Amino acid sequence: MSYNQWSIDSWRSKVALQQPQYSDLEFLKKVEEELCKYPPLIFAGEARSLKKHLAKVSKGEAFLLQGGDCAESFSNFSVIKIRDLFKVILQMAVVLTYAGSCPIVKVGRLAGQFAKPRSSDSESINGISLPSYRGDIINDIEFDAKAREANPQRMLQAYHQSASTLNIIRAFAYGGLADLNQVHKWNLDFVRGENFLQYKDMSDKINQALSFMKACGIDSANTTSLRQIEFFTSHEALLLNYEEALTRQDHLTGKWYDCSAHMLWIGERTRNLDGAHLEFLRGVDNPLGVKIGPSCTKDEILGLCDILNPHNEAGRLNLIVRMGSVAIKEKFPKLLESIKNEGREIVWSIDPMHGNTIKTDSGYKTRIFDDVLSEVKSFFEIHKSVGTYAGGVHLEMTGEDVTECIGGLVKEEGLGINYNTQCDPRLNANQAVELSFLIADILKHGR
Ligand code: PEP
Ligand code: CO
Repeated sequence: MSYNQWSIDSWRSKVALQQPQYSDLEFLKKVEEELCKYPPLIFAGEARSLKKHLAKVSKGEAFLLQGGDCAESFSNFSVIKIRDLFKVILQMAVVLTYAGSCPIVKVGRLAGQFAKPRSSDSESINGISLPSYRGDIINDIEFDAKAREANPQRMLQAYHQSASTLNIIRAFAYGGLADLNQVHKWNLDFVRGENFLQYKDMSDKINQALSFMKACGIDSANTTSLRQIEFFTSHEALLLNYEEALTRQDHLTGKWYDCSAHMLWIGERTRNLDGAHLEFLRGVDNPLGVKIGPSCTKDEILGLCDILNPHNEAGRLNLIVRMGSVAIKEKFPKLLESIKNEGREIVWSIDPMHGNTIKTDSGYKTRIFDDVLSEVKSFFEIHKSVGTYAGGVHLEMTGEDVTECIGGLVKEEGLGINYNTQCDPRLNANQAVELSFLIADILKHGR
């Protein structure tokens, strides 16, 4: 394949899947112009720092923990929600660092995770057909003709919500909540039972170690790394009008960065090699992810590497496997084996959510926690047998006590108790912490 010169809008001459139909193009243009004037949400130097961390992940020297809502929403926006998600991620990260003896790269699916790909352009209820809900950045979830119209104004609201989310995240990361001395307080009240006991035992040991270090003169007052963390943001770069409008040229390096998040990924439905999403993202220098479903072939992966990482830079490209607990065993070993000797720099991670979605008889979209665990285990086992690194996990999770995935305290008949996702079912904090202990155990015994 030969490539034309990239420009910030060269994606517009390609086919862009999963885009809304805006009726007022004049207004769309106005909104885009407005967004272009707004400050970037992240800085190029931060994206470069994440890339360096991901390069370590690709060598097996660190582990990537990426997680958050399937879709952020305008109506559910609250500091408590953000704080509790942040706490669970911290909690999982400390479990993985302590029990797995491995540095953790922390990336939230937040501050921009609004646009959703859909399997159908329209939705029918009782004979009425309306455009599908595509995420709050595009239209409203309510089943009503006006609400389902794609409205460019929503991009401005998504920007402002992302800006205030990032503002509070930065305060949490640098302003005391992430201090290791707070390790006991990261546990949310509803994380109980075995997970709580295991966590309490571990945090007691961490506190003892901190007391010892303090007696030796090392504490969070004089050691930044004990009181602050680096926390990065990511989302699916689906709505290209928004992504283009937040893309800026870095004055230091002359390179282009999509400043809507540190890391952007391309979804399973929009990763076609000749499509607009690859065209847009190949020109920005952020770390990139691509979802890899069960139908993905060796040639497609090599194509993704050629287009998105032509200089074979370590930490640039994260392939996020999401095949499902059954298909991963059938498809992934051969696929991984086939590209192992191609010399491509790839950060491999596992999304054990999107290949394991089912619908219950009562109509709930759910995931069975055991399937999630099984896909994660297989991912590690397959990498171990092929001789490559299982680099990270990509999760849909929340700090709320939701009942969306079946497992542990959540039974099928109890899904309705607190089922409030805007889109796909998420792990609750209990399930997320349990998963982190399992992964820590695998890391400890060598991947
Ligand atoms: C998602 O991550 O929310 C998503 C839609 O994933 P995928 O592209 O893997 O289906
Ligand atoms: Co999802």
